[in-house]
Amino acid sequence: MAIVIAIDGPAAAGKSTIARRLADRLGFTYIDSGAMYRALALWALREKLDPADMHRMEQLAMAAWIELERGTSRVLLNSEDVTEAIRSVDVSAAASMVAAIPGVRRALVEKQKAIGAQENVVMEGRDIGSVVFPNADLKIFLDAQPEERARRRAAEVNGDRDSVASQIRERDERDRTRAEAPLTQAPDAVYVDSTGKSIEEVEDSILRLVRARITNGKEFS
Ligand code: DC
Repeated sequence: MAIVIAIDGPAAAGKSTIARRLADRLGFTYIDSGAMYRALALWALREKLDPADMHRMEQLAMAAWIELERGTSRVLLNSEDVTEAIRSVDVSAAASMVAAIPGVRRALVEKQKAIGAQENVVMEGRDIGSVVFPNADLKIFLDAQPEERARRRAAEVNGDRDSVASQIRERDERDRTRAEAPLTQAPDAVYVDSTGKSIEEVEDSILRLVRARITNGKEFS
């Protein structure tokens, strides 16, 4: 049986950085489930389709060929490298719209489940512990104060902190309040607040949980 570590939480809480480092450290595959929703949103924007159009987006999700390249973290959409293109502000907003559509989630969750069934993964997203892998070996809900999340993301994208803060707020609101698989902490997830902590501190606290819950106190592979 493959091992699954689920990391969920709001935008810009540090999920990608932490999930990638944990996967490296443990020799697991890192899977960024948000990149799948982003790739689909990019395709919709390019085709000038409305990302809130349930029927068209569901068709698009079923037709999309999305690959997450192991090791490089490159994201391919229909064989094209879209790693950079999916990080734009427009794609971020559209991704949270397509992610609210049940048919889209059905299609992408199926792909995520197939990956986690085959290999040991650290998978990050919004519903990994609550919906995609309710039996994950370890579930983390990674959070940080809104001001800190806005500050970190603004530094990352070299943007204005106020506008980044309002984009994050809007996206989180949509992700938390949608009817289908909203962002929520699974009851058995461990809440980790990364506010004021270094990446190493957060990584260490999660590695302690991995030792306690998965490897019986042993070091990793
Ligand atoms: O993690 P991210 O910011 O790259 O995710 C982009 C959008 O996709 C985000 O607004 C919410 C959505 N998403 C989701 O609904 N479920 C996931 N498992 C991952 C992301």
